[in-house]
Amino acid sequence: MSFDLSVIPNKNIVLAVTGGIAAYKSAILVRRLKDAGFNVRVVMTQGAQAFITPLTFQALSGNPVHTELLNPEAEAGMGHIELARWADLLLVAPASCDTLAKFATGLADDLLSTLYLATKSPVWVAPAMNQQMWAAKATQRNLNTLVEDGVHVIMPDAGSQACGDVGLGRMPEPEDLAYQVTQYFHRAQRAIAEKFGLLAGKHVVITAGPTREAIDPVRYISNHSTGKMGFALAAACYAAGAKVTLIAGPVSLDTPNGVRRVNVSSAVQMLDLSMQMLDEGCDIFIATAAVADYRVAEVAEHKIKKAGDELNVSLIKNPDIVATIAGQQKRPFMVGFAAETRHVEEYAAGKLVAKKLDMIACNDVSRADIGFASDENAMTVFFADAYQLEKRDLEKASKQEIAQQLVEAIHDALQHEIEPV
Ligand code: PMT
Repeated sequence: MSFDLSVIPNKNIVLAVTGGIAAYKSAILVRRLKDAGFNVRVVMTQGAQAFITPLTFQALSGNPVHTELLNPEAEAGMGHIELARWADLLLVAPASCDTLAKFATGLADDLLSTLYLATKSPVWVAPAMNQQMWAAKATQRNLNTLVEDGVHVIMPDAGSQACGDVGLGRMPEPEDLAYQVTQYFHRAQRAIAEKFGLLAGKHVVITAGPTREAIDPVRYISNHSTGKMGFALAAACYAAGAKVTLIAGPVSLDTPNGVRRVNVSSAVQMLDLSMQMLDEGCDIFIATAAVADYRVAEVAEHKIKKAGDELNVSLIKNPDIVATIAGQQKRPFMVGFAAETRHVEEYAAGKLVAKKLDMIACNDVSRADIGFASDENAMTVFFADAYQLEKRDLEKASKQEIAQQLVEAIHDALQHEIEPV
């Protein structure tokens, strides 16, 4: 299964392991949760320790394992109440019949059942048991009670069981559980961003990567853009609560989580799609793409054969995408980029005015350590005069950090209500 493992920072998961053969899967689950960036602490019931040792979980989680309710050593450090407060999610996997019954009745005679009552965090249970035990009326009654109490029940899978039976009762695979947990936190994060993020409620359209201008069926004109800067911006805008559409030239990058991506090849296609996005309603247009300024006047229908020492190809000017969008009557907030090899700021400031942009970010693409293809960039940002905002120097940093600062710059400019540029 492929899913976005982009790290969810500082979220704490208490993984409670109860007695059952599926406990071995929980060891892998710890790994998957750690891979996804979660802090994990493991609680084990006595039953669980009959199947797998606390040492295994200690090694995998990097934290001491909690097994006793009243352990003077633990209570002096992270006791059961601290553990209950620390958790952003209490995940019980596998959850035995016995544990479900204790939760349903409010019994508090060991560490886990006490933790369940003491935590304010969401509680998820992944029941795993013999299919007949799963079907038993008492188990189903307890599960209904737990659902009524707000517990999220992860349905068991069907299949052959360790006891030889076939039916419902297998704990889902660790990857699947880790995926569900990751998605839960992504959704929670997204809900906050959509409400409070710097670009909440905005539709941002971003062009990224190079364009390819065909010469014949096998050759083209292009440039060194990899799309990294544009993709980083798409991720940053999404994280800031925006709906994001990424119009990508030919690049080999994964689409950032939550971003709608449309692939194009040539400048003319990129313009067509950009115009379509205007019809859909676009609040902010960011042109990071390195669009070829010229295309071949007549693309050869067949591969051009080698003949003679010279080959002349006639080029014609491509439409200027960002300037075209900026020239529309109902235009979005327009952000251009400028790739220069000399007089960087002067040329960028000229493009800001000439293309009627609200903001422009320029980089020196003669440098090997920033700009094209690099993981880092350094930029200077200019705003149209009407905004009365000082230019900003964004020191060399990862493209992700630069993207975040650009989001802040856009947000700051949007606070100023001005007449259209
Ligand atoms: O993709 P990476 O490898 O991460 O590299 C990032 C980058 C160097 C490509 C990026 O930071 C950058 O500088 N992008 C702008 C590249 C560019 O084409 O700059 P320009 O100065 O030629 O164009 C000025 C602006 O007009 C740009 O916003 C460009 O998208 C736009 N333009 C240009 C020509 C055209 N026909 N249509 C346009 O919309």
